[in-house]
Amino acid sequence: MTHVLHRTIGHDYPVAVSGDGVFIRDAAGKEYIDASSGAAVSCLGHSNAEVRAAMHAQLDKLTFAHTSFFTSQAAEELADDLVAHAPAGLDHVFYVSGGSEAVEAALKLARQYFVERGDLKRKYLIARRQSYHGITLGALAIGGRALQREKFAPLLIETHHVSPVYEYRERLAGETPEAYGERLARELETRVDELGGENIIAFIAETVVGATLGAVPAVPNYFKRVREICTRHGILLILDEVMCGMGRTGTLHACEQEGISPDIMVIAKGLGGGYMPIGAMLMQKQIYETVAGGSGAFQHSHTFMGHPLACAAALAVQQVIRRDNLLANVRQQGALLSRRLHERFGNHPFVGDVRGRGLFQGVELVADRGSKEPFDPTRKLNALVKKEAMKRGLMIYPMGGAADGVSGDHVLLAPPFILTEANVDAIVERLGEAIDAATSG
Ligand SMILES: Cc1ncc(COP(=O)(O)O)c(C=O)c1O
Repeated sequence: MTHVLHRTIGHDYPVAVSGDGVFIRDAAGKEYIDASSGAAVSCLGHSNAEVRAAMHAQLDKLTFAHTSFFTSQAAEELADDLVAHAPAGLDHVFYVSGGSEAVEAALKLARQYFVERGDLKRKYLIARRQSYHGITLGALAIGGRALQREKFAPLLIETHHVSPVYEYRERLAGETPEAYGERLARELETRVDELGGENIIAFIAETVVGATLGAVPAVPNYFKRVREICTRHGILLILDEVMCGMGRTGTLHACEQEGISPDIMVIAKGLGGGYMPIGAMLMQKQIYETVAGGSGAFQHSHTFMGHPLACAAALAVQQVIRRDNLLANVRQQGALLSRRLHERFGNHPFVGDVRGRGLFQGVELVADRGSKEPFDPTRKLNALVKKEAMKRGLMIYPMGGAADGVSGDHVLLAPPFILTEANVDAIVERLGEAIDAATSG
């Protein structure tokens, strides 16, 4: 009997009692390889001694000081650190406690920016189908997961959706990746023209699509074209790097690999690595200065924003990643993981595609490789794969709905940056067994 309203009511969750490196142990003593960092969170693995020491040191000094009274050394130092390594022009940080909060803040800052400039008519937000930006009402409204939006549709603000970049299913036969990207850019341009560029606040996208499609990067030049369209119409480009950011794809920010800089960027998950809940919104200097020189305050706040313990933990996480050159390991082990996945599943009858960047890899399951026909969604194959993986001591992040919002199954892998070659081999071996077992029925 539990008094917790768990994610799935009635599901028998094991009790996690300890963590060490890439492993989590449950109360029965069973050990799991954390091949998904939970949900792309635990980038440094579990129980890192230096992060714990930094947190203890902060605890011994100060745990909480409300941000309407004080700033803290931890919040200032983390912001300095984030700005020092940010994409071009991003020079101020607004703290929150997670990804959804960061997205809400981004939507409101974007609108307030135009209000400060007297540009009151801008009210539209454009996002992409098959995307996830969070679970709160604003974030859900811009998100493109049809099933998740359905029950709450009457509560959601008006948003507009265009196609995601999803090469495996939506690039046409004979179409080059570049031509596909250009087609998608034209679709965005058409939507902008329909709504009137002068009426649009922002376009928001995950730089690499995470949970909803399973580690799907953009095609070459797509984001450059998106950046150019947004700039031309004065539309703010918001990049959601909550899942794909902070080193996950092999560079600190996923947009570095696209050669662009957003107007606003949101990060969370790997920022604090799970040691404390923390998220952040980074903004261009010009946006900060417009608010600073206008009303003088961003009209948005949370009680726990800039929590000193969370900031101290996140700063330690980022310092360890840099000092130990862990992004090089993300690139090296990511390449190995991708190679092993292709070796194991390249000819698998029920694996249609393996894709991703760095330690952010996706495996898409299909009933038929030739036609790419997905499995019947009532079979809940992704849940079955997760169950089989957990049996084998493997944590993965599977999901359904990639193909059309309802059907389609994939597995997302996002292991900690400290991963070794032996860990990669164990993950691929156990995943292979789990997929075989789940698809054999
Ligand atoms: C891309 C993206 N944005 C936003 C969120 C929401 O973050 P949170 O669950 O911390 O509210 C997530 C969570 O998975 C995400 O993947």
